[in-house]
Amino acid sequence: MRNLVTGGAGFIGSHLAEELLKRGEEVVVIDNLSTGSMDNIAHLKPNPRFSFHIDTIMNETVMRRLVKKCDIVYHMAAAVGVKYIIDNPLESLETNVKGTEIVLQLANELGKKKVIIASTSEIYGKDRPGKRKFKEDDDRVLGSTTISRWGYSCAKAMDEFLALAYWREKKLPVVIVRFFNTVGPRQSGMYGMVVPRFVKHALLNQPITIYGDGKQTRSFCHVSDVVRAVIELAKKDAAVGEIFNIGNPKPISIRKLAEKVKKLTNSRSPIIHIPYEKAYEKGFEDMRHREPDITKIKEFIGFSPKMGLDETLKSIIKYFER
Ligand SMILES: NC(=O)c1ccc[n+]([C@@H]2O[C@H](COP(=O)([O-])OP(=O)(O)OC[C@H]3O[C@@H](n4cnc5c(N)ncnc54)[C@H](O)[C@@H]3O)[C@@H](O)[C@H]2O)c1
Repeated sequence: MRNLVTGGAGFIGSHLAEELLKRGEEVVVIDNLSTGSMDNIAHLKPNPRFSFHIDTIMNETVMRRLVKKCDIVYHMAAAVGVKYIIDNPLESLETNVKGTEIVLQLANELGKKKVIIASTSEIYGKDRPGKRKFKEDDDRVLGSTTISRWGYSCAKAMDEFLALAYWREKKLPVVIVRFFNTVGPRQSGMYGMVVPRFVKHALLNQPITIYGDGKQTRSFCHVSDVVRAVIELAKKDAAVGEIFNIGNPKPISIRKLAEKVKKLTNSRSPIIHIPYEKAYEKGFEDMRHREPDITKIKEFIGFSPKMGLDETLKSIIKYFER
């Protein structure tokens, strides 16, 4: 199989590229290195089944050439990270809507290539009383358009609508994967991702900074589990036209996460709290709890995460120590 991985120099994309190569497949990566890095794919370069292009998915001429040559597109490229989205709202919306439109349009035109669309748990939006677990057909509850974070949720929702419309109207085979918090080596802490930020500061004995009271919970899934699930779904005919949550359903509070990271790194870092508004923007809204309901993906491919949180954190600590 010839796989095109957009955003393949990013965190999830580079692990996906690596796993596909391990399985004996060909991989072509396109990435503009906006949040990705050549370091993430340096070890893949000697492989003759691997090639990469530093360019944007908005370049239709290049994308036409790459999509034409592949059998399947894993569309991972996106403007990502709460902080990045808030700092670059216009570029983020354009990449996340227009970029996906280009991928789908070309995949349809150039031989109905299968497309895997990376979506997000941000789709579900805000808290609602008593609700922690989210399943694929749950309602979406969003905040005002004046709050940039909801633009990311809407752009990704538009990607899902577009993909489903291409499937229903043109029979373009698409699979939508909604990632919940995915973590592991190579994830950058620069754009608001909590785990790499905590680990880095713990290792440097700098303050570990929690936004808000720390009682909010999240569930973290190791990237190797996520990548395995994505590839299995991509190979399963019955998954076409469907949406899947991918994540680890076991939650932990952010305060407990900070304490765990501190312990595992033998750090002297103090754990401090700052208000969300200081970390992000005025009026910033966060959700208290968000866990994936993984019933559907279990039914389709028997997925459940293999890596526990301690093991996951240790792999990230090892990466940062290096
Ligand atoms: N990591 C998570 O927890 C998480 C959660 C939900 C959804 N996702 C989705 O998974 C996908 C991968 O995210 P990630 O965590 O690996 O982030 P990442 O930032 O490491 O990866 C995104 C990659 O896309 C590239 N990119 C951005 N704009 C581009 C453009 N115009 N042209 C070409 N490349 C471009 C970036 O340089 C980067 O390498 C994204 O679509 C993201 O929305 C991730």
